[in-house]
Amino acid sequence: MDAPDDTTTSLDATGTRILVAGATGGTGRWVLRALDGRPPTVRALTRSADGHDRLRRLGADEVVVGDLFDPDDARAAVEDVDAVLSAVGSAGRAVLTADEFVDGTGNRNLVEAAAEAGTEAFVVESALGVGDEPASPLATAFDLFIGPVQRAKAEAEAALRNAPLRHTILRPGVLTGGPRTGLVQTAEPGARLWGGVTRADVAHLLAAAPFTPAAADRTLEVVSNPLLKRRAEPIDWQLPRESR
Ligand SMILES: NC(=O)c1ccc[n+]([C@@H]2O[C@H](COP(=O)([O-])OP(=O)(O)OC[C@H]3O[C@@H](n4cnc5c(N)ncnc54)[C@H](OP(=O)(O)O)[C@@H]3O)[C@@H](O)[C@H]2O)c1
Repeated sequence: MDAPDDTTTSLDATGTRILVAGATGGTGRWVLRALDGRPPTVRALTRSADGHDRLRRLGADEVVVGDLFDPDDARAAVEDVDAVLSAVGSAGRAVLTADEFVDGTGNRNLVEAAAEAGTEAFVVESALGVGDEPASPLATAFDLFIGPVQRAKAEAEAALRNAPLRHTILRPGVLTGGPRTGLVQTAEPGARLWGGVTRADVAHLLAAAPFTPAAADRTLEVVSNPLLKRRAEPIDWQLPRESR
């Protein structure tokens, strides 16, 4: 039998354009750094016209201004894009008070727009505890406080799984600051991983997922907790090579 063709399960970096939604955010800024100097053209999305120069300095080749609650803005953002990396999230009090979340409605608009536009791959930063699979007791307790936003994330995850897009859903544990460690464990939902992980480590996985055959059409819990290593499945995350 022929070996599986990686081009059907991962993107070729040459001539590729990638949209980073949530590019100004904690994870998104690390995604820009991870892709800086590599072949894909990187388009950054922000709601703020003032963010333009800063995003360029961080490594964005193009900047689009738009709000993902507006389906037209989502459509404009994905025009001519091969892959979408979404690290959007609701800020501060909105997590507790809003009745609509960019994590849900915004991501669903982006998924719909990407599917319509014929985008190939879509990677989303979700969260540990989202979904019906058994989660760690700590993740479950956390859901008592942020249940509505977790349910919104679950809806976006479902929309992505049902869309004609090759997808990777990353469910990190508690996000922390600091540089990339490379000490990341990933596992299928239900592994009950628990712990923290740096935004830089998650960003590396987001940026690499479209180019990593083993990440195609997967949902993965993500933490950096050496105590849970035996529950994890190693994946060879592959960023495109740096351009010379
Ligand atoms: N905090 C944790 O411990 C934790 C744990 C697991 C998962 N997560 C999830 O991980 C993701 C990333 O978190 P983070 O802390 O790195 O992000 P963050 O710093 O809060 O950044 C959020 C980003 O979302 C964008 N955004 C918000 N509303 C938008 C809208 N309506 N349209 C377009 N963009 C919008 C913002 O862009 P502009 O303001 O520039 O428009 C910003 O870049 C979130 O989904 C979060 O829920 C967090």
